[in-house]
Amino acid sequence: MGEIWTEKYRPKEFSDLKGQEDIIPKIQALIEKKNLPHLMFAGPAGTGKSSLSLVIVKKMYGDKWHENYLELNASDERGIDVIRQKVKDFARTKSLSEDFKIIFLDEADALTREAQQALRRTMENFTKTCRFILSCNYSSKIIEPIQSRCVVFRFRQLDENAMADIVKNIARAEGLNVDDKAIKALYTACDGDCRRAINLLQAVSNTKDITEEKIYSVSRTVNPSELKEIISLALAGNFISARDRLLDLMLKQSLSGLDLIKNIQKTIPSINADEKSKVKLIEKCGEIEFRLVEGSDEFVQLEALLASFVLVGKH
Ligand SMILES: Nc1ncnc2c1ncn2[C@@H]1O[C@H](COP(=O)(O)OP(=O)(O)O)[C@@H](O)[C@H]1O
Ligand SMILES: [Mg+2]
Repeated sequence: MGEIWTEKYRPKEFSDLKGQEDIIPKIQALIEKKNLPHLMFAGPAGTGKSSLSLVIVKKMYGDKWHENYLELNASDERGIDVIRQKVKDFARTKSLSEDFKIIFLDEADALTREAQQALRRTMENFTKTCRFILSCNYSSKIIEPIQSRCVVFRFRQLDENAMADIVKNIARAEGLNVDDKAIKALYTACDGDCRRAINLLQAVSNTKDITEEKIYSVSRTVNPSELKEIISLALAGNFISARDRLLDLMLKQSLSGLDLIKNIQKTIPSINADEKSKVKLIEKCGEIEFRLVEGSDEFVQLEALLASFVLVGKH
C-alpha cells in the first residue's frame, strides 16, 4: 500500500520494456562496446524513455549507478543556466570507476532554441567525461546541431498487445482479476500512454474485480460502444433519444463537453457509415470543439452537434 505502481513496476531489465523491440537490441549492442554515444529518445509520454535510460545506467554501472547518473528535467529546472550549472557540478569530478557519467535530460524540447544552443556547447565541453541522453516528444523541435551529435531512437506508442502484457503482469502480482474487456478499456482510455494505464489500474484497485465500467468511470473516457449507439441514433433521425442518452452519460460520468467531443471524434472512424458522412461528422466535431474552447454553453453546443449529425444522416 502507499506505493505508486508506475514506480513499483518500473522496468528493471531490457526484457521488461514492452513494445520497443527494435530499439532494445541496438542499445544493448552500444552498451557492450562500452562506448556510448550521446542518445536522443524521441516519442510520446509513457512509452519507456526514462525507464530505458535507467536500465542502461544500471547495466553499465551496477550498484555504482547513483554516483554516475544525473537526471534533469528541462521544463522544471528554471532555465538553461540552472541546467548548465548542474551539469558543470556533476561533470567536474571525473567518475572514480568509469570513463564517463551519464546525464539524462527529460523534456529537452521544452528548451528554447537559444537554450538549446547553450546546451550544445555544454555537451561539447563535457563530452570527454559525460554522455547525454536527451528525451523529447518531437525530435524536430531539437536544433539540428544537437540532433546530429546524438544517435536518435524513436519510441512507439504502445500497442494493445504490449499494454495487455504489462497490465496482466501487474494484475497477477497484485491479485486482481482484469478481464479482456477491462484491458481493452484501459487501452482505449490511455492512448498508448503506459503511465496513464497503470495509474488508472491502481485507481480502481480498491476491489479485486476490475471491469470496463469501473475503468471508464474514472478515466473520463466513454465506452465507445455506448457512443456508437448514440451516434447511430442521431444518424437515424432519433434526435431526442440521442440527446437524452448523451446528457445522461455526461452527468453520470461527470464529463465536460470537451471530454465528450474528444471521445465522439475518436469513435467516428469506427462507426457504421460511409466515408463521406464520417468526414462530415468529424468536421462538425472540430467546429463544436472550437466553440466550446471559446466558451460557448456546453449543452447548447452538444445539442447542436447532435442536430448536425441528424442532418448528415438525412443525406
Ligand atoms: N515500454 C514499456 N514497457 C513496460 N512498462 C512501461 C513501458 N513504458 C512505460 N512503462 C511504465 O510506465 C511508467 C512510466 O514510463 P516512463 O519510462 O517514465 O515513460 P516516458 O519517460 O516515456 O514518459 C514506467 O514506470 C513503467 O511502469
Ligand atoms: Mg519520462
